[in-house]
Amino acid sequence: MQVKKIEFLVSNTDVHQCPPHQFPEYAFIGRSNVGKSSLINMLTNSKVAKTSSRPGKTLLINHFFVDNAWYLVDLPGYGFAKIGKDMRGQLVEIINDYILERKELTCLFVLLDSRHEPQNIDLEFLFWLGEHAIPFNIVFTKADKLSKTQLEQNINKYKEELSQYWEPLPPIVITSSEKNMGKDELADFINHYNSK
Ligand code: GTP
Ligand code: MG
Repeated sequence: MQVKKIEFLVSNTDVHQCPPHQFPEYAFIGRSNVGKSSLINMLTNSKVAKTSSRPGKTLLINHFFVDNAWYLVDLPGYGFAKIGKDMRGQLVEIINDYILERKELTCLFVLLDSRHEPQNIDLEFLFWLGEHAIPFNIVFTKADKLSKTQLEQNINKYKEELSQYWEPLPPIVITSSEKNMGKDELADFINHYNSK
């Protein structure tokens, strides 16, 4: 799948203000700075999503309309420590309401930084998804930043950890926005759902 057209539609803080449910929708979620916006740009050969080396860049629910047929959603990150408690609470509410109430969300992609071994904040988020029976795919990011061996080690640790709770494991894609890695696999997932 090659994306031909992507346009920014709307940003908001309220799931009820999101575009009406007409098209399949895919959202990227993960810790702040994990690479959500960069991955949207890689997948769509564009720079529509705003990125930053400083965490906390995306603070709203951003809808992008792709090829007049499906939505991509760039969400704020969780776990950004350097904002006030109130703001952090608000972001959690925005993210959680979106995930729980956006019934037409076709697939949620949870991004995990491949440079790290399993982190509590990510595991807690995944357990929360499990508690609410929200299906998800896992996307490892920034694979260009470590050696093949380190990458395999970290991913295997995640798989070991997660297989204690998930059987079978959710689908996993390894990506690098820097190197255009994992793009076809991600596109295949979306294609698969779009053609259902
Ligand atoms: P928030 O909006 O703050 O939650 O962050 P985000 O998850 O959208 O991250 P973003 O895409 O803005 O990227 C954060 C930083 O990581 C930027 O400096 C990106 O250039 C960098 N980055 C993202 N993906 C990759 C990648 O695959 N490889 C490398 N080397 N850097 C990446
Ligand atoms: Mg972002």
